Amino acid sequence: MTARPTSPDSELKAAIKAVHRPLWGVSAISCVGNVLMLTGPVFMMLVYNKVLSGKSVSTLLALSLLALLLYVFYGFLEGLRGKLMARVGIAFDHRIAPVLFGATLRLPLHFGPHAREHDPLQDLAAIRNYLMGPGPATLLDLPWVPLYYSILFLMHPLLGLAAAGGALFLVILSVVNQRMTADTAKAATRVHVATATLLQDARRNAEAAAAMSMGDDLCKRWGAGYKTSIVHARDLADQASVFGAISKTARLTLQSAMLALGAFLVIEGELSAGAMLSSSIILARALAPIDQIIGHWRGTSSAFAALKRLRALTARLPKATEQQHGMPKPHKSLSVRDVVIVPPGAAAPTVTGVSFEIEAGDALGIIGPSGSGKSTLVRALVGAWPVARGEVRFDAALLSHYSPEALAASIGHLPQSIELFDGTVGENIARFRKDATTEEIVEAARLAGVHEMILSFPKGYDTPVGEGGAILSGGQRQRIGLARAVFGNPFLVVLDEPNSNLDPLGEQSLNEAIQRLRQAGKIVIIVAHRPSAIFAANKILSLRSGRAEMFGAKAQVLTALFPRMGQPHKPAPVANDPAAAPAPAMAQGVAPAAPASVMAPGAGQALERTQRGVVSLDATRVRRAPDQAAG
Ligand SMILES: Nc1ncnc2c1ncn2[C@@H]1O[C@H](COP(=O)(O)OP(=O)(O)OP(=O)(O)O)[C@@H](O)[C@H]1O
Ligand SMILES: [Mg+2]
Repeated sequence: MTARPTSPDSELKAAIKAVHRPLWGVSAISCVGNVLMLTGPVFMMLVYNKVLSGKSVSTLLALSLLALLLYVFYGFLEGLRGKLMARVGIAFDHRIAPVLFGATLRLPLHFGPHAREHDPLQDLAAIRNYLMGPGPATLLDLPWVPLYYSILFLMHPLLGLAAAGGALFLVILSVVNQRMTADTAKAATRVHVATATLLQDARRNAEAAAAMSMGDDLCKRWGAGYKTSIVHARDLADQASVFGAISKTARLTLQSAMLALGAFLVIEGELSAGAMLSSSIILARALAPIDQIIGHWRGTSSAFAALKRLRALTARLPKATEQQHGMPKPHKSLSVRDVVIVPPGAAAPTVTGVSFEIEAGDALGIIGPSGSGKSTLVRALVGAWPVARGEVRFDAALLSHYSPEALAASIGHLPQSIELFDGTVGENIARFRKDATTEEIVEAARLAGVHEMILSFPKGYDTPVGEGGAILSGGQRQRIGLARAVFGNPFLVVLDEPNSNLDPLGEQSLNEAIQRLRQAGKIVIIVAHRPSAIFAANKILSLRSGRAEMFGAKAQVLTALFPRMGQPHKPAPVANDPAAAPAPAMAQGVAPAAPASVMAPGAGQALERTQRGVVSLDATRVRRAPDQAAG
């Protein structure tokens, strides 16, 4: 059985379709409202032509009462239309907001550095505010505009022509104004986004900015954009006031010109006095929707532009693939075949043709110099970045066959730049899952070896971590990130530089956690610079320039890569130091296990020596630190 694939694209289409039906209701109300708008002119014409000529007070009273009733009904319909539109806006928002929030979270994963150019939730706010405001009513009134002009034509063709000519002039004026301001408005938006981004970066890097006195230079850079945005705002305001003045003058002139034309027609005997006054009111009614459309044009065009952006964005987001329901949780293996990975927004792959297979109970250490593609590879393994070519399989099934929920339950990830979310320690460990029990949270913390550390916090698991985990130390953040990664007993736990901030005690807990995960039949992947992090690994994949240099049992790979590590008294070169650890000549392709020609003699025994070498190397470093400080 397969699940119906839903994607942001289809969800947006469904949300747009869902607002169609209430919009029909609102249109019907608009229809009745526009007919009721004729109450005023008809009343005036009847008073002039019937009441005044017949001098009948009772007719006047009856007509007045009828007009009052119609006005009250019109007011009721107007109120109802406003309320309905507010609900249409909210319904649209509720339907699509969670989808767009999810899309926002994944923007950096799809668009890389270009992610900041998209803000779907901001676009949604523009559409919602528009739907909830008076803007849509102006468009719904538009189909009724011809009614007023037809009535004027019926009264006298000259009146109709004059009114239509005046309205056309106002529309042309508005289009010219829009055209003239479009470029300035676009430039203003661009500058606004750039200055806001700079400000955001500066706030996030406040520490570095303060320590290195970057404030003045950053202020100059921000100030340049800020001044430009104010100049743009001034230009827009200037243009708006000039346009406003011209259009107001035109409208006043048109109103009086119509009255003058009506009076001329009365003198010529072609029009009654009542019709003359009524035509003036009908003209006002006929111009009102056009005025309103012009007045709300900026909001209308922004809302339509926002909808267009949302459509374009959701169309570019990946379609959900058919996912199979009831897929058994993975429990056997992870196999990676010939994967090619292109970072989001990049043109070329940074990992090419990597293959390996590991089984339940394995811990794979991924080593390699900086920039060799370690983080890139693991981002694809956890499903954060797409695989451009090749396959990643859990047991026999492709990653894409699992639903996102099933994958999330099967994968734990500690990213290289560990950032926690603003919440408590417990909430962060539980990945903000509402249904997480205290037992599950404590179990994860114990597995990661951080239970005692958390209990030493003033509020234990309820300690707030601050924005991004700011009130914790780097090491504490990393250890809580480890607990979050193992929460819920995932099958695959991927740790990217999990020990970069850890002290020896933290490293020991880390290695114990890895051992426990292995014993529980899980798969652990550890990306490492420092050899102590791969102490608990039994397999090694070495990457260089985005390609697999070697893959195999730890002893074999380490001995082949760093023959000197097998010699007990010489310090081993670290994996990320290309000068100290030159690439072996066979750095081509994948070695499913290190080929015999590159294995040091007695590689099996070298395992023990290598592990001891690694440990003693680190211990030496730790022991030396106080001496060096003293020296
Ligand atoms: N979003 C991105 N867009 C374009 N290129 C990227 C992106 N992320 C990483 N790269 C490039 O991919 C290469 C591999 O980066 P990656 O982060 O995988 O290296 P790494 O092996 O994890 O390095 P380190 O040990 O320093 O963490 C680098 O050359 C990097 O510049
Ligand atoms: Mg990395």
